Amino acid sequence: MFDKKTYVQRRAKLARQVKSGLLLFLGNGESPMNYPANPYHYRQDSTFLYFFGLSHPGLAAVIDLDEGRQTVFGDDVDMEDIIWMGPQPALKGRCARVGVSDQRPLVDLAAVLRDGVRQGRRVHFLPPYRAENAAWLERLLGIRAETARDHASAEFARAVIAQRSLKSAGEVAEIEAALAVSAAMYREAMAMAQPGISEREIAGFIEGIALAGGGRMAFPAIVSKHGETLHNHFHGNRLAEGDLLLIDSGAEAESGYASDITRTIPVGGRFNPLQKDIYETVLDMQLTAIAMIRPGVSYRSVHLRASEVLAEHLAHIGLMRGRAADAVACGAHALFFPHGLGHMMGLDVHDMEDLGETWVGYDDKVKRSPQFGLAYLRLARKLEAGHVLTVEPGIYFIPALIDQWRRERRHAEFIRYERVEKLRAFGGIRIEDDVLVLKRGVRVLGPAIPKSVAEVEAAVRGR
Ligand code: GLY
Ligand code: MN
Ligand code: MN
Repeated sequence: MFDKKTYVQRRAKLARQVKSGLLLFLGNGESPMNYPANPYHYRQDSTFLYFFGLSHPGLAAVIDLDEGRQTVFGDDVDMEDIIWMGPQPALKGRCARVGVSDQRPLVDLAAVLRDGVRQGRRVHFLPPYRAENAAWLERLLGIRAETARDHASAEFARAVIAQRSLKSAGEVAEIEAALAVSAAMYREAMAMAQPGISEREIAGFIEGIALAGGGRMAFPAIVSKHGETLHNHFHGNRLAEGDLLLIDSGAEAESGYASDITRTIPVGGRFNPLQKDIYETVLDMQLTAIAMIRPGVSYRSVHLRASEVLAEHLAHIGLMRGRAADAVACGAHALFFPHGLGHMMGLDVHDMEDLGETWVGYDDKVKRSPQFGLAYLRLARKLEAGHVLTVEPGIYFIPALIDQWRRERRHAEFIRYERVEKLRAFGGIRIEDDVLVLKRGVRVLGPAIPKSVAEVEAAVRGR
């Protein structure tokens, strides 16, 4: 949690961006796992957290732009709550700590909104991503829950995105706190990556580090020898010498800020020659991309340059042919790299994706491409100082995709299918770091985590 001034200033800045009406913020409630009294870990909505800093269920807030009033709606705990949850600080005091003096019972929210609507004033709300909050909007505003996202306020969402996209020094420090936990997670995971261990032993251990760090995982970890499946959450395999273990994981600091790191680790501590060649290709893609990052550069151009590096190396290795720039222009590289180079990161690991992925990552000048692979690029717009983003290239051998493209002879002038075919069982390699765009250049955030072939091999071998 930041100091009072931070929240006051954030709300004041937001209020200047939207012309008139009421800004409605719905906090997150508890979300049941398998019966109402057994909820998932509580997670406050990130925009609510950003502007109000209050992280508990049962809250909403309104900024009345015309009357300049800011109100938090919520209730103090009653005796029954105290018996089960223990005493809780009074809401009035919690609101005062974030600079809100007007606190009212939650039941008053509906009437305040109804009055606003009756006066012909716009109630701006953000696109709900939880069914409970879509249903709440329906009760408050009479908008059918299924259509609530369509009625969300673009003006409000864009103003929030513009503000949250630029990270303050305090926010960067929180992301680096999460990255310090990530560094400990990868140190342990690399040492554990020995033949005979199971994926789930490593997954469980690193999750424990996140919990012990005072936060939790920022998203379900990928800990898999099948790194070619991009979001593989199965942890049931046992590892053998020579497997490649891909771990994509993030910690969430107590404040809610995330980290997002990927390393690919040779089980037993030695890459074989082909693994090393492909690993160094991905590393070159990543380092080339990082070196290009600075204000004014579009992330799409960085993604495309990283893709060219892939095509250059794979031609050298004998898996592609032809001019790299031509291969990338027609999308041939996406057989191996079918996802985007990265995304914004902050309070959400894919920051603000609930508000609209395209509004976060694209602008009036950079439009989303429909081309396979490039279409998955979440961040393409021009970068600005203060952006925090991930740089996460990868190379994957996805048997089903290879089969489909080979059958269709897709981009056969660039892809040597007869050789690619032999690598169906290779798996996948991804390397991911989180970076801050500086006025001049870029800074890789957090403590260094072993990344070169020599560093990763040494970390597995305990040197
Ligand atoms: N952890 C998902 C991602 O890297 O985007
Ligand atoms: Mn990741
Ligand atoms: Mn990521």
